[in-house]
Amino acid sequence: MCGIIGYVGDEAAAPFLVKALKNLEYRGYDSAGIATICNGKVCAEKDVGKLEQVCGTHDLHGLPGNVGIGHVRWATHGDVTQANAHPHFDCKRQIAVVHNGIVENYQDLRTALECNHRFVSQTDTEVIPHLIEEYMDAGASLEQAVLQASKQLKGCYAFAAVSVKEPDKIVATRRESPLVVGSNAHRSFIASDALAFLEETNRVVFLEDGELVVLSKDITFLDNDGKPVKKDFKEVDWKWDQATKQGYDYFMMKEILEEPQAIRRATMQDRKLLLEMAIGILRSKQVVITACGTSRFAALVGRYLFSRLAGKFCDVIMASEFQYFSDSVDRNTLVIAVSQSGETADVIQGVKRAKENGATVYSMVNTVGSSLARMSDSVLYLNCGPEIGVAATKTFVSQLALFYLLSFTMANKLDDGLHDLLAICPKIEENVTKNNKKLQILAQKTRDKNDFYYIARGINFAIALEGALKMKEISYVHAEGMPAGELKHGTLALIERGTPVVVVCPNDYTYEETIANAHETKARGAFVIGLSEETHPIFDDWVVIPDVDEIFQPLVTVVPLQLLAYYSALTRGRDPDKPRNLAKSVTVK
Ligand code: M6R
Repeated sequence: MCGIIGYVGDEAAAPFLVKALKNLEYRGYDSAGIATICNGKVCAEKDVGKLEQVCGTHDLHGLPGNVGIGHVRWATHGDVTQANAHPHFDCKRQIAVVHNGIVENYQDLRTALECNHRFVSQTDTEVIPHLIEEYMDAGASLEQAVLQASKQLKGCYAFAAVSVKEPDKIVATRRESPLVVGSNAHRSFIASDALAFLEETNRVVFLEDGELVVLSKDITFLDNDGKPVKKDFKEVDWKWDQATKQGYDYFMMKEILEEPQAIRRATMQDRKLLLEMAIGILRSKQVVITACGTSRFAALVGRYLFSRLAGKFCDVIMASEFQYFSDSVDRNTLVIAVSQSGETADVIQGVKRAKENGATVYSMVNTVGSSLARMSDSVLYLNCGPEIGVAATKTFVSQLALFYLLSFTMANKLDDGLHDLLAICPKIEENVTKNNKKLQILAQKTRDKNDFYYIARGINFAIALEGALKMKEISYVHAEGMPAGELKHGTLALIERGTPVVVVCPNDYTYEETIANAHETKARGAFVIGLSEETHPIFDDWVVIPDVDEIFQPLVTVVPLQLLAYYSALTRGRDPDKPRNLAKSVTVK
């Protein structure tokens, strides 16, 4: 949900800003813009479109000056127009601001400011430069003005401001939206994500809620009373080239192919920590897993694993609904929050509430130093490197791997479990090779179909949901996943001649019943696509999956469904990495 960047250094800012924005584009790609300070002026270019398009029509690279800020937008308030693109300015165009988040009380602030200030956009953001202008006109320094302005704002934000009156600095602050500072000998950055500047430096500091950073020749951190605070830089171990396509056409394909490696890397955990967490789960009176989207589907698989391997029942609650259950959350509750980004606003909100009620919080996170990681009592990291494609793929299998590790530890079978888990990786690799062409053909064959249904039972039920989510997210095709047994309770009415029904039916104890449900769709004319180890007369098309133990099936059933969605997106002319209306990191509620 929007990416922000700021640069101060001994070379021109614009080329660094553009490069960094390219790395942040996964957060939003409705519009892009940058502003620099040079010769007592704010120089800026911004427009609608992906960064590449904006660079094609505006000379972003050529903006002069060694201090600048930049933005890629995912619209929340106001249409996708040039006026609503960031940066936003004060009346005199002496201050420029980029912002990620939502200013909830912007309407009240705007009404109060409108008697003295001229607004030119529909955004919530524009109140920020005008508030800073008020305070600076009254004699405040840029940092004092940013501090005072931020105290007026309700909601979540990370924003960075520059002013011609103090041309050598950027001041930035945050509340509930991520902000990280990076620095080397020659240049300093602030950004929504360290990926933005990782090619330059991996020495970072994460800002806490309410803190300010003043970036100039030196870097100063201030608390929310404006008093200096000492913060230490630490190194993140992600490599910048992990966030490049490395020859692939799309990140999504690269990331699907990285899945076996992602599983291997997820298994590299501290055993003592795993044991402590496993004991914590077993001893807790009430365990609730909370997550959104794909991470929630990983949690649904995790729930089966806890139950089947360790006899521990738990609930999975959508993070956006979790806060409404806070009456039942107390110090006897253990919350496991699952989020690859660690910044999803719905997850953070639910976890905050749970913590207020005394709950213990464990999390599974990919992004080191993310908000969720920092607010958790214990964290397991996915360790799979950055995932750039908006569709979650390798992070999903990494999350599953962590659930396997925890469940095996709870069952006191970690060594055997690890051995069996790692043995799945080459099977995934072989299966991708086997199915790749077939899935391209299948995507072609179904290219005129606009409704897909995915069914499965037991541990694969969540995979039906995930297959459908992938399909709708990147192909813009209506797709629904459900437990196979639910079909006849309503959805069957939608099956017509030729409707594709993807039947995930490995040969386990759910096989016969799932096949019976597939028959019910076939009798209504469905085009049945079966995922199984062996073909079956009822399948109109068959996607082979490797024969693995029932508990590991989700790892092998999900991959062909990711590929089917990928090829369907390409066949329909969609960009699988940047699906319309979506963004990778959902930092608004
Ligand atoms: O970063 P998170 O894991 O918290 O993100 C949760 C969802 O927004 C995410 O999984 C989303 O559903 C994916 N884009 C699906 O591919």
